Amino acid sequence: MTINASPESIEISASDRVFVLTGAGISAESGLRTFRDSNGLWAGYQVETVATPEGWDANPELVWQFYSQRRREAQESQPNAAHYALAELEKRIGERFFLCTQNVDDLHERAGSKNLVHMHGELFKTRCEAKCGACVFEDRDSYNSMREIPICACGARLRPHIVWFGEIPLEMVRIQQEIARCSLLLVVGTSGAVHPAASFVHWANARRGTRARTFYVGPEEPLNANAFTRIIPGRAGETLPCMFKIL
Ligand code: OAD
Repeated sequence: MTINASPESIEISASDRVFVLTGAGISAESGLRTFRDSNGLWAGYQVETVATPEGWDANPELVWQFYSQRRREAQESQPNAAHYALAELEKRIGERFFLCTQNVDDLHERAGSKNLVHMHGELFKTRCEAKCGACVFEDRDSYNSMREIPICACGARLRPHIVWFGEIPLEMVRIQQEIARCSLLLVVGTSGAVHPAASFVHWANARRGTRARTFYVGPEEPLNANAFTRIIPGRAGETLPCMFKIL
């Protein structure tokens, strides 16, 4: 079956397994700022103060405020056509689809994606800083009214469930397994500046046996552009909805 196939379409056969990596660019058309664009988040904030364990220790209130603002923006935004296109692709090919996002917003879930992991954490989750039983829970109520850093029943501070610089991304074992068995790797809207995500395409290329086909979709070439089979220029919300040709 063909979904509005365009000249830039990607053919997906009945035996393909698809691994998708998304970055901030896929949420840009939903109104959420990316990180490294000229008006991006890192143009207005110092990474060290709001996105490192050291920043959290030095000024936790500032870190809470930063993520509370991100949550407000994410709550006010809606999934765009690119999020829906990936959810639709998953519906069509089922468990042969796997989505790994670097984004901490919940727009993929709200568009209907199911088989996904958030390797850099999730905005609407909180966890205990220590290793108690309260680790990682859904938290949609407390953020906006937060004045003080909340404390867990065990006495330790609660913290945003976000992977900061210097910390290990989540779900890496599963991600590696999925890259090892995919036949098609599609990367959307990420600058290729942050590892390990920027290495996924290299991991797929370095595999023994059949190489995966690798595609990048975005308005600019990422830093790791040379590693891809094909670069498909364009905004995700305009490109993805007519890109998949399911054979
Ligand atoms: P960046 O801000 O580094 O890159 C965003 C990419 O999206 C750029 O390459 C843009 O060209 C592209 N882009 C912009 N608009 C787009 C659109 N409409 N459609 C498709 N692409 C578009 O963001 P990331 O690469 O996601 O990590 O950043 C990676 C990580 O760095 C983030 O997860 C975050 C950040 O620091 C942590 O905070 C741990």
